[in-house]
Amino acid sequence: MKMLPFISTLLRQNKYFIVGLCLGISAGLIFAPLLEGDCLFNENGQGYTSDHLSRSRSLNSDSNAQGDEYEPRINLDGKPRQAHKTPNLLNRPRYYSTELGIREKLFIGVLSSQYDVSTRGVALNKTIAHLVDKVMFFIDAPGHRKLNISMPGGIVGFTDTRKILNAFHMLKYITDNYLDEFDFYFLVKDTTYIKARQLYELVQGISVSEDVHAGSGKRDERSTFCSLDAGLLLSNSVIHKIMSSLDWCVKNAFYDSDDDNVGQCILHATGLSCQESVQGYTLSSYTLHRSLNIEDIQRLTKDPRLDHALTIYPVQEPHILFQLHAYFCMVGLVHNKQDIATLRHSVVNMSELTPGGRGNVTWPVGIPSGIVPTNRFDVIRWDYFTDTELYLNSDFSNGKKLEGADKNDIQYVVNASIKQMEADWGEHLQYRRLTNGYRRFDPSRGMDYRLDLSFRDTRTGQEVHKRVEVCKPLGKVEVVPMPYVTENVRVNLVLPVEAEFKLEAIKFMENYARICMEKRDKTFLMLVLLYDPSLPGKGTKDDTFLSVKEMALTLSDRYKKDGSKIAWVSIKIPSSDGLASDPLLEFVVADLVVRKFSPESLILMCQSNMELKQEYLNRVRMNTILGWQVFSPIPFAEYHPDIVYSSTNTRPKELDINKTYGHYDTREISHIAFYARDFTTARKQIEDRIPIVRTDRDIDSVMNIKHNSQLILPSSLYGMFVSARSLHILRAVEPGLRLHYRDRNCQDSNIQCIEDRAYNLGSKSQLAQLILDYLASPITTVS
Ligand SMILES: *[C@@H]1O[C@H](CO)[C@@H](O)[C@H](O)[C@H]1NC(C)=O
Ligand SMILES: *[C@@H]1O[C@H](CO)[C@@H](O)[C@H](O)[C@H]1NC(C)=O
Ligand SMILES: *[C@@H]1O[C@H](CO)[C@@H](O)[C@H](O)[C@H]1NC(C)=O
Ligand SMILES: *[C@@H]1O[C@H](CO)[C@@H](O)[C@H](O)[C@H]1NC(C)=O
Ligand SMILES: *[C@@H]1O[C@H](CO)[C@@H](O)[C@H](O)[C@H]1NC(C)=O
Repeated sequence: MKMLPFISTLLRQNKYFIVGLCLGISAGLIFAPLLEGDCLFNENGQGYTSDHLSRSRSLNSDSNAQGDEYEPRINLDGKPRQAHKTPNLLNRPRYYSTELGIREKLFIGVLSSQYDVSTRGVALNKTIAHLVDKVMFFIDAPGHRKLNISMPGGIVGFTDTRKILNAFHMLKYITDNYLDEFDFYFLVKDTTYIKARQLYELVQGISVSEDVHAGSGKRDERSTFCSLDAGLLLSNSVIHKIMSSLDWCVKNAFYDSDDDNVGQCILHATGLSCQESVQGYTLSSYTLHRSLNIEDIQRLTKDPRLDHALTIYPVQEPHILFQLHAYFCMVGLVHNKQDIATLRHSVVNMSELTPGGRGNVTWPVGIPSGIVPTNRFDVIRWDYFTDTELYLNSDFSNGKKLEGADKNDIQYVVNASIKQMEADWGEHLQYRRLTNGYRRFDPSRGMDYRLDLSFRDTRTGQEVHKRVEVCKPLGKVEVVPMPYVTENVRVNLVLPVEAEFKLEAIKFMENYARICMEKRDKTFLMLVLLYDPSLPGKGTKDDTFLSVKEMALTLSDRYKKDGSKIAWVSIKIPSSDGLASDPLLEFVVADLVVRKFSPESLILMCQSNMELKQEYLNRVRMNTILGWQVFSPIPFAEYHPDIVYSSTNTRPKELDINKTYGHYDTREISHIAFYARDFTTARKQIEDRIPIVRTDRDIDSVMNIKHNSQLILPSSLYGMFVSARSLHILRAVEPGLRLHYRDRNCQDSNIQCIEDRAYNLGSKSQLAQLILDYLASPITTVS
């Protein structure tokens, strides 16, 4: 048959050689096996046409001398239609869970109606919603407007009036919206009481790797379909198969009952009839024969079949549903109490068996038991450790050497565990090594440890393993008494200004005038003008900072009566690029400025790219305490505007606290508030390493010490206060302090500065998106 298109192609191409060709082909068919002992048809049938062609051509030329002139061509263009090669773009799913196929366990879909959902549906929801992962109600809602229920989450309405198709609408909705989110789907009607706890336990026991189509309530023995009233349990794989058969199912929904239509559909899609038991678990249901009242329930509950049933139906009245629920809750409670009693008993017995004979074991008083995660997002990670390493210590590294506080902590716990083991089991246990160690911080109670310790039994010489669980509970929360402060203190803002940021500084002053001077807030602004020797200096006609100074004078004049003032000091700094990021400059500025204030002055170091807020200044007043506490706010810093803003969302005047636009920059430490006296005290402690700058002449020597000294220098004022250890340091996020993005000039050698700059460009996802966009953009070749 396959030869036909081939011949007809040739026919079209050259009529005159038909005869010869036909001869050739028949000769080929007859002789080829004889001549070459080889099959004419390529064994697996592939490459058939071209193979055949070359052979027939060679035979053809034997029988027909003109054959060489004839070049038969087969028009294969698009003949075996080949799928268009779509560019293989890897479409990464949004969540790890999707990629790893992590799913929730159980989805319950309930068929209801618009009249019943508000009574039966709600009642059913109340008895199961908290016990399973998701419940959805599917109702017929012809003509949405007539519906007198608001549709809360969890209700889906279908406008299709053909009731018989509702079950398929439900399946369609599930395949459209929840296809890959659950391991199991339980479909049921709203007149059914579900023992959700048991159902959930059951699905947790079933392997999802096999197709599951299970239920109960078959009409008779031979039926292959289960009842939707009794509930139908389908595995994810079955739902997948149904998806592609739904059209068939709808077209072939001939039966009067949902059960049969749905059953037939699943049978068609999977070839699997409904099972009453799956992987050793039995799904059973209990049919109530008439409408019940309370006495009936009490009588019924003696029936053991009721206890084993997973679902009970039909239940028309919500109050009956609640009665049933109350009854089964009570049964569950009795079971739990028995379990607790048994456990308690076994624990007591065990403690009596303990060689140490410590008598009754009880939970340590006042320590809550560990956290039980409610879902996979709540799981607290255990970190693995050995004697020397700590693994997966953070999201960004695989491991680190065990040292410092971590090492002490773990040694302490190991030592205590060894001691305990020796006390419990006798001195003949000789500690060998730590086999495994895990720890996690549970915020509800403290640090939990699990240790596998290996000992040698000195009597037998054998190795003995012991697993120990240890909890180091959180200490009691203490209220630290603090000195009394008021909001009535003058804040002295110190603003270093480089020529580069002149305009920013002017804007800062405008804001300062509006927010502080106009409102007569008790503040004082001290500008520190940093003169680069290469630029026109002070006193000259084209002073770099002339505009700044003029502005300061104007504002001071205008608000003279209100007691507000802006002053400045000028400092000549040695010229160098990226000076702003040189930590030593902070010391130079602070040294020269602080001496101009009285020791009881509150000083706040500022940057001109900050937004000034009253609220922030008040917090500075409250959090900075003379002789006691220094305040180091963590500002909200804007990301690079080119990255986070677009034509649709433009850069707002006032920075929004929103993770799209910025972040709390924990590396930013230049904003700090302290009292002058505290500064002087702390500064004296590091005078041997960084000489105090008393006049402009000392600046050069200080700026140069980094290069000619091996000493470890505090990297900032903040670092200085930390190392001084004389004061408490309050470091906390401060929504009142917002920084606009500012380009940083970093020297190549200044890794710290380069890292800070990178950290402030954008969020990881935004940067990743940029890279993806860049890779996807067509212009990637650079000549
Ligand atoms: C079912 O209960 C859950 C929480 O218990 C609630 O969020 C949901 O709106 C309820 N659905 C209906 C249809 O009442
Ligand atoms: C709709 O329901 C509200 C309250 O549930 C009731 O007050 C109102 O009369 C109902 N409207 C109709 C048209 O049934
Ligand atoms: C254990 O506790 C029970 C009840 O609290 C008490 O009767 C018993 O004497 C205790 N046993 C020991 C060994 O302390
Ligand atoms: C733990 O025990 C070892 C060996 O006895 C000892 O060297 C170490 O100092 C102890 N560590 C702590 C934190 O107690
Ligand atoms: C943050 O900004 C994004 C983008 O403009 C916006 O969609 C989102 O609603 C904002 N979030 C908050 C909490 O304002």
